[in-house]
Amino acid sequence: MRIDSRFWLPLFFPVALLLIGGTLFSATQPIKPREPVTSSDTVDTKPLRLLMVGLAQDMARINTGIWHEEYDLIQQGAASIANHPKIPPAQIAKIKKTLGAEFQNFVRFDKTVHTTATELVSAAEARNWSGVLKKYTRIRDGCVGCHTAYRDQLQPVLAK
Ligand code: HEC
Repeated sequence: MRIDSRFWLPLFFPVALLLIGGTLFSATQPIKPREPVTSSDTVDTKPLRLLMVGLAQDMARINTGIWHEEYDLIQQGAASIANHPKIPPAQIAKIKKTLGAEFQNFVRFDKTVHTTATELVSAAEARNWSGVLKKYTRIRDGCVGCHTAYRDQLQPVLAK
């Protein structure tokens, strides 16, 4: 991971405060401000709403990576989206029943997000900045596109 003064500067004051004023956390807990966040999801399926919360966290990680120009963070967030758990079969059945013929389009949104996340991993690995921005925008449009088209319809059904 690339560490330069842009990262040290904002860290300096909180760390200095902690050293001077004693630690806010347990003394036995070392402070690791720039430890990469890794997903702890190992399950294969997850209820859609929880899955979405995870996706939003992944997008936040990508955002942070973009603001700090940290390709590793972008790569990690994108990989986590690409490997997100599947929706449980019972929920898929409900979605299918509710959307009818529109279900194919719902799946298309999911595929676009998934495929583009894989492409974003590659763009980050290739240190391709304009590629990163382009893929990121496409993912975001996919998220919001599916929400705009289907969230209102599916929310009450999935809440049951
Ligand atoms: C294929 C459709 C689809 C795609 C793609 C999709 N979502 Fe969602 N999302 C939904 C639906 C449907 C809900 C409503 C779920 C519910 O309320 O039970 C939702 C809800 C959410 C929520 C609200 C969760 C909550 O606590 O109520 C967040 C946050 C979210 N999505 C983030 C994302 C992000 C980030 C992406 C893209 C990386 C994304 N979604 C892509 C369909 C989608």
